[in-house]
Amino acid sequence: MNFSRIVGTGSYLPSRILTNRDLERMVDTSDEWVFTRTGIRQRHVAADNENASDLALAASRRAIEAAGITPRDIDLIVVATTTPDMVFPSTACILQAKLGIKGCPAFDMQAVCSGFVYGIGAADQFMRSGQYRHALVVGAEVYSRILDWKDRSTCVLFGDGAGAVVLKADTAPGIMSCHLHADGSYADILSVPGTVRGGEVSGRPLLKMEGGTVFKFAVKVLGEVAEEALAANNLAKSDIDWLIPHQANIRIIQATARKLGLSMEKVVTTVDRHANTSAASVPLALDEAVRDGRIRAGQHVLLEGVGGGFTWGSVLIKW
Ligand code: ACO
Repeated sequence: MNFSRIVGTGSYLPSRILTNRDLERMVDTSDEWVFTRTGIRQRHVAADNENASDLALAASRRAIEAAGITPRDIDLIVVATTTPDMVFPSTACILQAKLGIKGCPAFDMQAVCSGFVYGIGAADQFMRSGQYRHALVVGAEVYSRILDWKDRSTCVLFGDGAGAVVLKADTAPGIMSCHLHADGSYADILSVPGTVRGGEVSGRPLLKMEGGTVFKFAVKVLGEVAEEALAANNLAKSDIDWLIPHQANIRIIQATARKLGLSMEKVVTTVDRHANTSAASVPLALDEAVRDGRIRAGQHVLLEGVGGGFTWGSVLIKW
């Protein structure tokens, strides 16, 4: 049997930090409101000349270095993003060129905040075919470009960043299971309802959201998908060493941990410093916990994504 294993992680955050206090000068909000409702204190914002592929490149270089390989060893690239550099070519192809390699398949994964979990799910299937040795899976987002900076109910929630992992083929998992789901009937509760038509922007390409509905949906499916992963692997809740859920809101994360009977000490959180970086949130948190030594060999790590679509899913890893 062929399996895949994460052998390197990396991440990148733009240098500009926007605090809740900074936002107080832009919209009618307060640090206290944002922090108590979401757990967010600050977010990073990309420079005008930084695109998703630039953030992806910096994170990828770090993951490739951590894996002890060179870009030439990569034979598959998946970039999860909702904020691509352009309509096409894909951000994955742009990243491939920036890495100075060619030939291997490269494609984008569009599953909004579940994008990284979907990307790992897709790459793991490629690796299980036995045809690939090293896959680069990246989550990279510049949500600052699709926010209405006059809408206090959404602009305070998101940030920019990128995270990346290198998957290596192995004879044992590694990636134990991936469970992916979608329900397109919920499209309207979280969307960027715009597109390009005839050389013009058609619709309104700025994020809109029914916050309360999204909150309830996220708590429900993050609990369900964890139970699904544990059942499929004959594991108990107590077997989870680290939970890395999508970082949208600390109250969603706390409710999910409560449902699973997990202490918050077993949950990796970055939402206070990064805000919601959509497809980048899980690999950013993963990289932090790997590099500071929390995640160690032999531990069970559960990644969870949930986002627009609606999409949701899990990846269970034996580190
Ligand atoms: N500052 C001050 N007041 C605000 C702000 C703000 N930034 N935003 C909204 N308000 C006001 C509202 O206008 C409302 O005022 P009103 O009562 O006079 O009408 C009041 O605060 C309460 O608004 P609610 O929406 O009821 O506040 P709630 O406690 O539900 O928190 C929030 C809103 C934080 C958006 C919450 O619903 C939430 O976190 N939902 C999940 C959304 C999310 O995380 N989305 C991320 C993308 S989805 C994903 O990644 C899975």
